[in-house]
Amino acid sequence: MTLTKEYRIKAGDFEKAGDASLQIKTTLKSLDIYPDIIRRAAICAYESEMNIVMHGGGGTITLTVDDSGIVLEVRDEGPGIEDVNLAFQEGYSTALMEHREMGFGAGMGLPNIKKSSDFYEINSKLGKGTNLTIFFWQNRESG
Ligand SMILES: Nc1ncnc2c1ncn2[C@@H]1O[C@H](COP(=O)(O)OP(=O)(O)OP(=O)(O)O)[C@@H](O)[C@H]1O
Ligand SMILES: [Mg+2]
Repeated sequence: MTLTKEYRIKAGDFEKAGDASLQIKTTLKSLDIYPDIIRRAAICAYESEMNIVMHGGGGTITLTVDDSGIVLEVRDEGPGIEDVNLAFQEGYSTALMEHREMGFGAGMGLPNIKKSSDFYEINSKLGKGTNLTIFFWQNRESG
């Protein structure tokens, strides 16, 4: 069984922000997947979606599920990340005041993705955009 779904995410649309990650969670729940994997994938989808909304200038998340695992491919053509190592540090954020007023900007999204995934890969180019691929294994012990 292989399932692929693509979700488009608009920049700055806080009305719809969270919809894609909720749909991803609902899709995973409809499949025979361990609750802990669903929980971790939903966290990563949500943090990725919010980063696309706030920092990425809009983009897509593609969900792929097969018997061996779950993949979230997060893509945008936004400004890119200047220093990826810095961006993954807890507390680092360039979120605007208007985002902080809504409760975002703790600088915990990328660290949460790192913690909640089994494996991830990020490629970001200034002025070109950011690609983040996040993996979760099924049917094995996750560490
Ligand atoms: N898709 C992206 N495009 C450009 N910059 C990004 C992107 N995602 C993250 N960043 C940069 O990395 C920083 C850290 O991201 P992270 O998700 O950890 O924190 P945050 O979004 O600022 O706050 P929080 O997620 O806790 O609300 C961001 O503030 C931003 O500078
Ligand atoms: Mg974030």
